[in-house]
Amino acid sequence: MIKKCLFPAAGYGTRFLPATKAMPKEMLPVLTKPLIQYGVEEAISANMETMAIVTGRGKRAIEDHFDISYELEHQIKGTSKEHYLTEIRDVIENCTFSYTRQVEMKGLGHAILTGETLIGNEAFAVILADDLCDNIGSEGSVLTQMVELYNKYKCSIVAIEEIPKSDTNKYGVISGHEIEDGLYKIDDMVEKPDPKDAPSNLAIIGRYILTPDIFDIIKKTKPGKGGEIQITDALLEQAKNGMVLAYKFKGKRFDCGSVNGFVEATNYFFEKENLK
Ligand code: UTP
Repeated sequence: MIKKCLFPAAGYGTRFLPATKAMPKEMLPVLTKPLIQYGVEEAISANMETMAIVTGRGKRAIEDHFDISYELEHQIKGTSKEHYLTEIRDVIENCTFSYTRQVEMKGLGHAILTGETLIGNEAFAVILADDLCDNIGSEGSVLTQMVELYNKYKCSIVAIEEIPKSDTNKYGVISGHEIEDGLYKIDDMVEKPDPKDAPSNLAIIGRYILTPDIFDIIKKTKPGKGGEIQITDALLEQAKNGMVLAYKFKGKRFDCGSVNGFVEATNYFFEKENLK
């Protein structure tokens, strides 16, 4: 059973400056809810109980968000505004939070390794909160779908999406062979390849299930693209020595780390709320 979800949330969020100068990117709200709360709710929907958050300087607001504000509770208790706190209260009651800091921003692989102390020796999920996902139809959340696959295959799994070939330089890109409908056994993986060098148009998005041997592999992984320790490089190593799967999830994803994706998500959730 996968019970822990890791949230690497130490990045600078430069694409959202100046908004992210003093505020974590993960706290940017889509409507009234910060990105990271959507991520935590997705993890809870997949039956996870422990949220392990890798933070950095200037990220205190995340810890405060997932804590009770007694002053605020006292102010609005019994008033017509009390319902505004219902969702976040539910989140706080349904899981526990633990935090560690990534002292130097050495890349996503390094951020995940920093989380080892919170995860220990068990398989775990990873959510990048700036990839905001929503369920479609009767499908469960992306993480719920991935946990089901993990229970069957017991190996690391990445979520993938088809992207326009011209965008491959923004993502980790995989190639592999399909073993089930929408499920690929990975043969190759490249971080942010030029479109002409990309092995496919299947891009990794911010949802992973990782087996704990990944930590030792990351420790041996040399800095790659951009001088950062890339999770893609570590996963390729894991794939070569065993099996890593890529799953074309059912659902909608918004790249809220970019202004375009963020605006799209805002419009989408606004319309969805108004349909209720
Ligand atoms: P991004 O590539 O989106 O980087 O990181 P960023 O710093 O958040 O945003 P930009 O590109 O400067 O606008 C992908 C995810 O990995 C985390 C980020 O917080 C984000 O969730 N990350 C990245 C870390 O936690 N530590 C790192 O050293 C790098």
